Amino acid sequence: MASSAAIAVPGRHPGWPARLGPLLVDAGVVELRAPKLLDAQPWSRARLRDQAHLEQWEPTSPGSWLDRNSSFAWPAQWSMLRRLSLRGQGLAFVITVDGELAGQLTVGNVVRGALCSAWIGYWVASSRTGGGLATAAVALTADHVFRSAGLHRLEATVRPENMASIRVLRKAGFREEGVFRRYLDVAGDWRDHLCFAVTTEDHPGGLVQRLVDGGHAKIIR
Ligand code: ACO
Repeated sequence: MASSAAIAVPGRHPGWPARLGPLLVDAGVVELRAPKLLDAQPWSRARLRDQAHLEQWEPTSPGSWLDRNSSFAWPAQWSMLRRLSLRGQGLAFVITVDGELAGQLTVGNVVRGALCSAWIGYWVASSRTGGGLATAAVALTADHVFRSAGLHRLEATVRPENMASIRVLRKAGFREEGVFRRYLDVAGDWRDHLCFAVTTEDHPGGLVQRLVDGGHAKIIR
């Protein structure tokens, strides 16, 4: 019999909206929550300041960076993420540290049936990097989608040049599975990507517990 957490309420995603964490890492107290319309200003400030840090790793999109990341662009983004999440096609989160918006994390392309799989993508503001934030956010989300959203497998694709993100995935407990050739149109060209994945069988105690056991994070209440 399916657990109650895995039963979809019509029009609502199992596992979304949700608050994940708190988890204490070097960067501070990490939590994830659903995006809010009121996130426009901090989201836009971080994204405009960080064009050089972010653009090289993100899918090619029409329009200027300014147009796509001004606070006026947020309501459409927010509405798209919310719709995706309410339809059960994804789970959209913002990452906060000590209560302040510090990045975003999205689980997308949720496929159920015999796959029960999805991908994960994330960014962290450059002012907050290097403190374990992304690793904690990925681990919290993986545990959540396995325990509350009924998924079995989570995939992440990353450019081979993106050493920081590769380190995040390895530290969080994902394994490298292979190379997807010319997989995604990123920063103006079709780029090879490494495929990383984790399934429910890999870490029976959970990815967060694994980080805690390794001394990378502390569970706080
Ligand atoms: N070479 C090797 N390791 C590096 C490098 C580098 N150039 N830069 C950072 N690292 C290491 C850090 O030392 C750290 O490892 P450590 O804890 O063993 O010292 C690790 O990478 C980063 O771990 P976190 O602190 O948990 O991650 P952080 O909060 O700094 O966020 C992230 C990492 C998300 C990649 C951030 O740099 C970012 O937003 N980059 C731009 C956007 C991006 O690349 N997003 C990911 C796209 S791929 C995907 O979404 C699946």
